[in-house]
Amino acid sequence: MIDLRSDTLTQPTEEMRAVMSAAAVGDDVYGEDPTVNALEEFTSDLLGFPAGMFAVSGTQANLCGIMAHCQRGDEYLVGQTAHTYKFEGGGAAVLGSIQPQPIEMSSAGVMDLAAIDAAIKRQPSMNHFALSTLLCLENTYSGRVLPADYVASAQELARSHGLRVHLDGARLWNAAVASGRSPAEIAQGFDSVSVCLSKGLGAPVGSVLVGSVDLIAEARRWRKMLGGGLRQAGILAAAGRYAIEKHVDRLSVDHANAARLAKGLSEIPGVAVDGPFTNMVFVEFEGAAPKEVEAKLLSASIKIAAAVSTRLICHLDISTDDVDRVLAAFRSALR
Ligand SMILES: Cc1ncc(COP(=O)(O)O)c(C=O)c1O
Repeated sequence: MIDLRSDTLTQPTEEMRAVMSAAAVGDDVYGEDPTVNALEEFTSDLLGFPAGMFAVSGTQANLCGIMAHCQRGDEYLVGQTAHTYKFEGGGAAVLGSIQPQPIEMSSAGVMDLAAIDAAIKRQPSMNHFALSTLLCLENTYSGRVLPADYVASAQELARSHGLRVHLDGARLWNAAVASGRSPAEIAQGFDSVSVCLSKGLGAPVGSVLVGSVDLIAEARRWRKMLGGGLRQAGILAAAGRYAIEKHVDRLSVDHANAARLAKGLSEIPGVAVDGPFTNMVFVEFEGAAPKEVEAKLLSASIKIAAAVSTRLICHLDISTDDVDRVLAAFRSALR
């Protein structure tokens, strides 16, 4: 089966499983898991921050970060279709009593700076308002790498109003590889960054939140409250460390495969292609129902998640030969 629905579907490799099995472990709630401690230090160093915290998921890392930055009754500004607003169950509002202030965003993940500026509320004396405390960005966004000058301008705007800035960097690794910049450069200027180890990298579980020593100490309190205090978590952290060391550089293969897929699809009549954007390609079918295309591909052992604009994602478990098989199946399905 070739599964193009998501890069979260990657399987741990044999080598990764061996490293997990051999990992030294301890009780991480006591701070005594050497493999978790090593992953936190390694990742925070790599991203240029003083401290890091392992979390079970990107959702948990983002939520702990937002809750560490904001008090009850504060608000965070966030893109209308950003993961930290639309796809995390409203956790900051439900569990943190933190109001989201969604801002319209472009398909490239960019919010208009004037719209951000207009939405910021920083008058503590005005007790009508929640207090804007945090701005959240996402990089990559739907596979798109945020322009560096936009990131710098958004950070500067937020800071000029006394806000802090968090990056949902679930796919920061893709942004770094695609732009030829280091992970630390992509993470520069943020007060906290979450990165995922389970998106395209093969790790079964895990994210790391990085920030200042004080912020991470606060995030650890929330992680415990959220049920994320783990015991012998080194088995998971070992996979995460392996994923960063062995599977980040090879994301360029996924990007090349996405480019091959986009080119091949654009040559098929009736297919409108948007992308490639790092490891993602978006397609619309003219004159064919997406669900029918999905069913035909499934009969050729290829999984897609049909939508008006169908997202196809290349990852660790999709080879260049697989891409060619996918193209042949699309040609046959759309004939
Ligand atoms: C951009 C982005 N941020 C955060 C997350 C959340 O990660 P998790 O599924 O590990 O909670 C995802 C998940 O796909 C994501 O795409």
